[in-house]
Amino acid sequence: MCGIIGIIGENSVSDDLIKSLERLEYRGYDSAGIATVYNGRMDRRRANGKLKNLISLIHNSPLKGSTGIGHTRWATHGRPTERNAHPHMNEDVSVVHNGIIENFRELRSELEKAGCIFYTETDTETIAHMISYYIRHGAGIVDAVGRALKRLKGTFALGIIFSTDEDIMIAARRGSPLAIGHGNTAMYIGSDAIALAPFTSAVTYLEEGDWAVISSKNAIIRDSNDEVVQRSVTALEVCNFQMGKGNHRHYMHKEIHEQPEVISRTLSNYIDKAELKLHPFDIGVDLSTIDRIIISGCGTSFYSSLVGRYWIERYACIPVEVDFSSELRYREPPLSPNSLALFISQSGETADTLAALRYFKAKHQTVASVVNVHTSTIARESNVVIPTLAGSEVGVASTKAFTCQLSAIACFCLMLAKSQKNVTKFNEREIISGLVDAPNLIAAMLSDERPFNNLAYELAKASNVLYLGRGINCPVALEGALKLKEVSYIHAEGYPAGELKHGPIALVDEKIPVIVLAPKDKLFNKTVSNMQEIASRGGRIVFVSDANSDEAGCELLAHLPIPKAHPCVMPLLCAVSVQLIAYHTAVIMGTDIDQPRNLAKSVTVE
Ligand code: F6R
Repeated sequence: MCGIIGIIGENSVSDDLIKSLERLEYRGYDSAGIATVYNGRMDRRRANGKLKNLISLIHNSPLKGSTGIGHTRWATHGRPTERNAHPHMNEDVSVVHNGIIENFRELRSELEKAGCIFYTETDTETIAHMISYYIRHGAGIVDAVGRALKRLKGTFALGIIFSTDEDIMIAARRGSPLAIGHGNTAMYIGSDAIALAPFTSAVTYLEEGDWAVISSKNAIIRDSNDEVVQRSVTALEVCNFQMGKGNHRHYMHKEIHEQPEVISRTLSNYIDKAELKLHPFDIGVDLSTIDRIIISGCGTSFYSSLVGRYWIERYACIPVEVDFSSELRYREPPLSPNSLALFISQSGETADTLAALRYFKAKHQTVASVVNVHTSTIARESNVVIPTLAGSEVGVASTKAFTCQLSAIACFCLMLAKSQKNVTKFNEREIISGLVDAPNLIAAMLSDERPFNNLAYELAKASNVLYLGRGINCPVALEGALKLKEVSYIHAEGYPAGELKHGPIALVDEKIPVIVLAPKDKLFNKTVSNMQEIASRGGRIVFVSDANSDEAGCELLAHLPIPKAHPCVMPLLCAVSVQLIAYHTAVIMGTDIDQPRNLAKSVTVE
């Protein structure tokens, strides 16, 4: 979603602002801009579309100044046009903003009555005029911002610069993340650490409600009550910021190939691989008392929640319900004192997930989270954090974060099962041994992508694709459909295999490819029966299975073999198959694979 960078230093900032915006591209955006202040005058350049448009604009018409802000915008209020692109500016201030100002209409009409002229459809322009209004009515810069912040309802991360004072940049955070970077001769603000990584490894994460007055030498941070506070400076994990694509054409491909390594790293956090047992764990919560679990996430993280339900109910024997984070709190589910709310999020900043988490915290529930960004808001606001170690995921379509979530949830499930003393119901060593084998099995799958590439030529001709799975592999079928939609723009739907005959089978004809996840588990024969139903109606079946192709019992469009493995590992292997299907199809479709249209990496609005 939108990205912010701000720099206040001694040298020209324009090039560095662009360098940082390039690193923020992965978040998804539809326009970009920068503004600087120089000799008492502010100026800006903005462009619709990709960053290269902004770069060529600046090349033809450079911006001077050692204080500046930059932004990549993912449109919420107002169409994605140059006019609506940030920074928003008047003679006094220039503002970049992530989030949504919910009361912007009433503030705008108040300001219009006071004589302000608005040029855009955005909520952000209101902030610029509000600050300016207070300055023009006698307030100093800092006071004007403080007063304006109090008028805003909604969520924001803000970067603000001023024409009358080049030595001040103000940052503010409510609901949207923002960090301050400490350099030797400059200070920085960034909506995520990736933006700051080229300049500094010393970072302060602003807390909810904080705002900071920043000079080139230091930052004075105030909390929501305007009291000056000290916030700690932490070191960025440098290994997380190796951003290149290496030998890969796309980040998505690189991240699919990183899976053996990052799954292994995630498992090592929980498992003693030599002894095939869990590391001793004390996560600060008595897991033995938990009698119900509610798991929630969005998109891909929602699908890993669904896989988690199968594991936890089977092995830990605790009832689990799963819901979309965007829906959960509106149901107002009845809660019990011993239930655990578990939130799954790669970014740890997804607004829907964070809002659901806060709902459960307000109801005094124990809140745990599976997160990939360990400094994120969701991680910081959880009672218990179960980290994934996927490293930075740059491709907008989640791949390695998903399989690392599955790995961490599987380990958490074993902790729960052990704490509940249900460990006798299954063979813990056998499951751990299965998990430990997963990285090698995935590496073997990744060694030959030709079957996926061949199939992609067929899928690229289709307008619709169905994905089917049963039991624990059903959520992976849903994930497969999501992945194909996201990166190839081909319509796809995922269903439980047994559900097809209750309606969706009406879609089956000789044009529709049906991708069936059919590991040879105890549900295999039932899935094979469903494949017969599809084949007899002309549907073209892609058989993703560790069984031989003749066991499918029908003509196949393709057989994508997966290695034999413990059944609890099959979701990870099927996940890799559906990722490769989506990736290769998107390559043939020629889409913008790492930044698909309309999508954002970290969705920080509800
Ligand atoms: C799909 C995808 C999204 C995210 C969703 C939640 O490929 O990436 O569906 O999974 O927006 O994001 P996180 O996990 O960051 O909360």
